[in-house]
Amino acid sequence: MRIPAKRTVMMMLMVCVFALALAVPASAADQDYVLWNPATNAVSHANASVDGPAVVTGTPGNYTIVITLKNEGTYMGITLPASYAYLNANDDSNPDYEISAVRSVAGGKTTFTISGVTSNTADLPIQLQTTVAGFHNAVHELVIKW
Ligand code: HEM
Repeated sequence: MRIPAKRTVMMMLMVCVFALALAVPASAADQDYVLWNPATNAVSHANASVDGPAVVTGTPGNYTIVITLKNEGTYMGITLPASYAYLNANDDSNPDYEISAVRSVAGGKTTFTISGVTSNTADLPIQLQTTVAGFHNAVHELVIKW
């Protein structure tokens, strides 16, 4: 069976468009943020442990936010090892911290992936468990402020 030349060209064009669509990755944007302490209305010294901007992907109503923290903290000039057991985020009006971030530890850093976030500009309240021997073994309520 012979396929008419016109149809062959059309089919080749469609294959090219499909291949291009697969090749374009979902866009990711770096967004600067600070860890804000709503209890004191101030930037927390936890920011000394923030390792670069957050990486944000997704679309309105369903963003994925990836933040990386150094496994050390600096407070009043002292630098000590730090670790973070978990991070939960609160994305709705109930203060229930319903999103459990996926945690991964590598190369002296801890990465938290927070999925299903409605906005990439609204303040995002989080609970961050922090351990610094001798100073911290607590869950801190902070806000990711863009
Ligand atoms: C050298 C390491 C650290 C030391 C010696 C230290 C020490 C302290 C001390 C003494 C307090 C109570 C007094 C105050 O509020 O300033 C405090 C509070 C606090 N720490 Fe740390 N800390 C260290 C690292 C960290 C890290 C790595 C985080 C989180 C990433 C963190 C998060 C907090 C938060 C959220 C508070 C409540 C007050 C605030 O927001 O600044 N700290 N820390």
